[in-house]
Amino acid sequence: MKFFIDTANLDQIKEAHDLGILDGVTTNPSLMAKEGIKGHDAVMNHYKTICEIVDGDVSAEVTTTDFKSMVEEGQKLAKIHNNIVVKVPMIHDGVKAMKWFTDNGIPTNCTLVFSAGQAILAAKAGAKYVSPFIGRIDDSCWEGIDLIYQIRQIYNVQGYDTQILAASIRNSNHIVKCAEGGADVVTSPLEPMLGLLKHPLTDIGLAKFMDDAKKFA
Ligand code: E4P
Repeated sequence: MKFFIDTANLDQIKEAHDLGILDGVTTNPSLMAKEGIKGHDAVMNHYKTICEIVDGDVSAEVTTTDFKSMVEEGQKLAKIHNNIVVKVPMIHDGVKAMKWFTDNGIPTNCTLVFSAGQAILAAKAGAKYVSPFIGRIDDSCWEGIDLIYQIRQIYNVQGYDTQILAASIRNSNHIVKCAEGGADVVTSPLEPMLGLLKHPLTDIGLAKFMDDAKKFA
C-alpha cells in the first residue's frame, strides 16, 4: 500500500518525505485555503513546490463544476508538472470530464466518493484513483472501512485498474484497516501516519535496553 500525505502544508510534507515512506500528496481546496494560499499564481506555484519536494503523484483539485471549465482548469493543472493528477469531484460533469482526461492522457483522482456505485462510475471513466472518504462516512454513523472492502471486491471481480485511494483518514487504525481491506493507497494527515510508530511496549523496551547498555559501555 502506498502512503500519500493529505495536506498542503510544506513542513509536514517535508517531514513525511524525510521519513522515507512518502509516495505522493493529495490536496483539496480546503487544505490549500488553510495554508493561506491566495490567487491563481500562488496556487500554481504551491503545487509546483510540492511536486519538487515529493517524487510521486500530487493531486490538484479543480475548483469548477461544469464540464468545459473542469477540462480547461485540469489541463492547466496538468501542465504544472508531470506528477500532477487532476482531482475531479464525483458529479455528472465530473464523470464526463474524467473520461475526457482519460482519453487525453491526463491522470485523474475521483474525489468525494461515498458509495460503491460511485466507485464503479469512476473506474468506468478511467480514473487512475478513486477516493472513498472513510472518516466522513464514520462521522455519519456508517462504517467507512466497509466501503474499502466492497470496492476492493468489485474491482477484483470486474478487473478494474483504478487504484483505491482511501481518504479522509482520522486515525492510525484507519490506516491499518485500509491496508487490511486492500486499499492500494492511503492518504493521511501527518499525525495518524506518525501514530503508526507508537507502542508503549516499544518505549518501555527501549528504555530498558538503553539502561542496560550503560552497564557495558
Ligand atoms: C482526499 O483526498 C481529501 O483531501 C481528504 O482526505 C478529505 O479528508 P477530510 O474528511 O479530513 O476533510
